[in-house]
Amino acid sequence: MNNTLHYTNQQLHMESVSLDSIAEQVSTPFYCYSRAVIEQQISACKNAFKVLDATLHYAVKANSNLAVLRIMAGAGLGADVVSAGEMERALMAGIAAEKIIFSGVGKRKAEMLAALEAGIAQFNLESISELKVLMVLCEQQKKRAGVSVRINPDVDGKTHRHITTGVKGSKFGIPMEQLSQALGLIAQSDHLTLRGLAVHIGSQIVTTEPYRAVCERLRDWIIDLRGQGHAIQHLDLGGGFGIDYGDGQVLSFENVAQVMRQALQGVKDLKIAIEPGRSLVGDAGVLVSEVIYRKEVEPVPFLILDAGMNDLMRPALYQASHSLVPLISMERGHETVSVVGPICESSDSFHKEISLPRIEEGERIALLQAGAYGAVMASGYNSRDIIPEVLVDSGEYALVRRRINHRDLLELEQVS
Ligand code: LLP
Repeated sequence: MNNTLHYTNQQLHMESVSLDSIAEQVSTPFYCYSRAVIEQQISACKNAFKVLDATLHYAVKANSNLAVLRIMAGAGLGADVVSAGEMERALMAGIAAEKIIFSGVGKRKAEMLAALEAGIAQFNLESISELKVLMVLCEQQKKRAGVSVRINPDVDGKTHRHITTGVKGSKFGIPMEQLSQALGLIAQSDHLTLRGLAVHIGSQIVTTEPYRAVCERLRDWIIDLRGQGHAIQHLDLGGGFGIDYGDGQVLSFENVAQVMRQALQGVKDLKIAIEPGRSLVGDAGVLVSEVIYRKEVEPVPFLILDAGMNDLMRPALYQASHSLVPLISMERGHETVSVVGPICESSDSFHKEISLPRIEEGERIALLQAGAYGAVMASGYNSRDIIPEVLVDSGEYALVRRRINHRDLLELEQVS
């Protein structure tokens, strides 16, 4: 639990607001975020990366709620986006186009056109085909685009295989063998301006070693490429900084920034960018849910929540573990239980046979570290509602996305 999540009068509070009191109004399940925690994380990140004089581009995919993006904009952060939709949100929140980087392996023409129109800072190119398409679009539109080449550095982030992105054979980045072709095409183009190189080796990385490895490789490549006449001025090191999901494994901003600085020593005139997502918002959010049933079976009872894998996909997709705490603290015995959701799939499980304080039917609980890749990955599977999001700010809370009722979704359908 972080310092803004605490029990006062036996009730779990986020900042000074009791989560039970929000639940009475909003009804479970819902996501709740703390503005204070997001701001703490932003300043910790900014301070740590001063040693690299890095610019911060928040990875919008982690949590794209407008209220969250406003906090990022207010703190002066740029954005890393992967779709026209994310770009639109970032712009709406007040993040200037000149601070937006467009990443992603499958940018569509219409999306690139929208980004050219908006005048974003940089496209991170991930294939020769994409590079050629952007070149043609720029010619047609008589526009110039700033580009960096995202390379596949073949470095293992040592994280879950579904969120590792920098190893050979992964779909991300341009393989080293194609780098000189990409740089050659950019150099010949009147419409593309080379800014530099980009990498992103994965997410929820908890050791500094992969960052050291990738930065050491980049240092050599940059020196080499500059020697060949390529003006590499920018280096985008991506995100991926892991947070503590309850097992004590976490990557500190200071450590990773220091390691990057050491490994890049000697490379002059390089503007560093980073794209943190999870590390800015993950700790700031909880998912509040009700235990609707206790199912007393062998070998252990099930706690059946009103939240399911459609609301929080991470456990089903990556076997992720989100700590669970009751909203009311009191003397309780411990028991071994499995915690599941109501969805008709066996993967709809939050915890298998864990020891928890005994929780009764009708009680509310919170799943922690749910601020990143929670609400953004939710769906209406099983024709369920898409649950609301709440932001706690200075003793008040606000509904920052209302519940999308299954009937709202039904209205989008028609039968002739
Ligand atoms: N930059 C790029 C190009 C990315 O692809 C990502 C994340 C980030 C930055 C931000 O990474 P972060 O700092 O948040 O680790 N849904 C998964 C995580 C997918 C991450 C995808 N890319 C999960 O819930 O663990």
